[in-house]
Amino acid sequence: MAVQSVGIVGAGQMGNGIAHVFALAGYDVLMTDISEDAIQKALTLIDRNLERQVSRGKIQAEDKAAALGRIGTTTDITELGQCDLVIEAATEREEIKQKIFDQLLPHLKPDTILTSNTSSISITRLASRTDRPEKFMGFHFMNPVPVMQLVELIRGIATDEPTYRTLCEVVEKLGKTSASAEDFPAFIVNRILMPMINEAVYTLYEGVGSVKSIDESMKLGANHPMGPLELADFIGLDTCLSIMNVLHEGLADTKYRPCPLLTKYVEAGWLGRKTGRGFYDYRGEEPVPTR
Ligand code: CAA
Repeated sequence: MAVQSVGIVGAGQMGNGIAHVFALAGYDVLMTDISEDAIQKALTLIDRNLERQVSRGKIQAEDKAAALGRIGTTTDITELGQCDLVIEAATEREEIKQKIFDQLLPHLKPDTILTSNTSSISITRLASRTDRPEKFMGFHFMNPVPVMQLVELIRGIATDEPTYRTLCEVVEKLGKTSASAEDFPAFIVNRILMPMINEAVYTLYEGVGSVKSIDESMKLGANHPMGPLELADFIGLDTCLSIMNVLHEGLADTKYRPCPLLTKYVEAGWLGRKTGRGFYDYRGEEPVPTR
């Protein structure tokens, strides 16, 4: 099936990046969010990130203008019903995703492929509550979407082969690379990445190192582009905690227990960059470690 129009639910960190790369690859994009304010913020960010690519010579000014021209927005989710492909990129809470699918389903074309950018929730379970489990898949982008090469493709138990093949082609057209993951808690990237981040928080909690020494160790000693605590702040500490909980509950193994210090930061509302404070304080000129 040829995909031309793409509906994106959620204009947040992931949604705006997904809209950016689809529009740049020539797809017609319709982005929705419950808040008009969030939509306006997303459009400003997309403009800024496209401009960054123009100034680095990655794309031409005409490409930027054409991409922006392909992005439509609406606060009415039912308008996404006519899209060939829908990507849900809302908050990582199952009841919210469920409500979105319930609102959307009566308006979808019969052959629309429905996907979720969830980083950890069971695709099989989300799919089972829709009218099209065979046309439902996990479509997991990495942050920042315009920069990261990988997209994880996760088939639920009922996903059919044409749906999977269509999404492989879409990823190729985006200029990215797909990795196929089985539908088990947190798939591949987060199954490996989150325990590493959680272990970095334990390393801090047990006083083995400071925020600065832990991050520097992994940047300079393992050649990671960001230290694990800096990366946790970038992803969002609430997201990190929720993925650790999915691993802990889904695999029932104590090796996945979330570090109590991670829980404490989330309870304080120190969620990382998005709230101005996490393992670093971002409110001044330079990020300052909070421990
Ligand atoms: N949009 C477009 N381009 C962007 C961008 C954005 N939002 N952010 C950065 N860039 C581009 C820059 O323009 C720059 O491009 P060139 O290489 O062409 O010059 C390049 O990315 C590097 O940016 P900077 O020089 O500003 O900064 P940097 O060198 O410090 O790199 C980074 C920034 C790419 C974010 C890098 O630090 C990195 O790779 N960090 C790790 C990110 C990571 O691990 N992401 C995965 C998180 S896990 C996840 O997403 C899954 C989940 O479910 C939680």
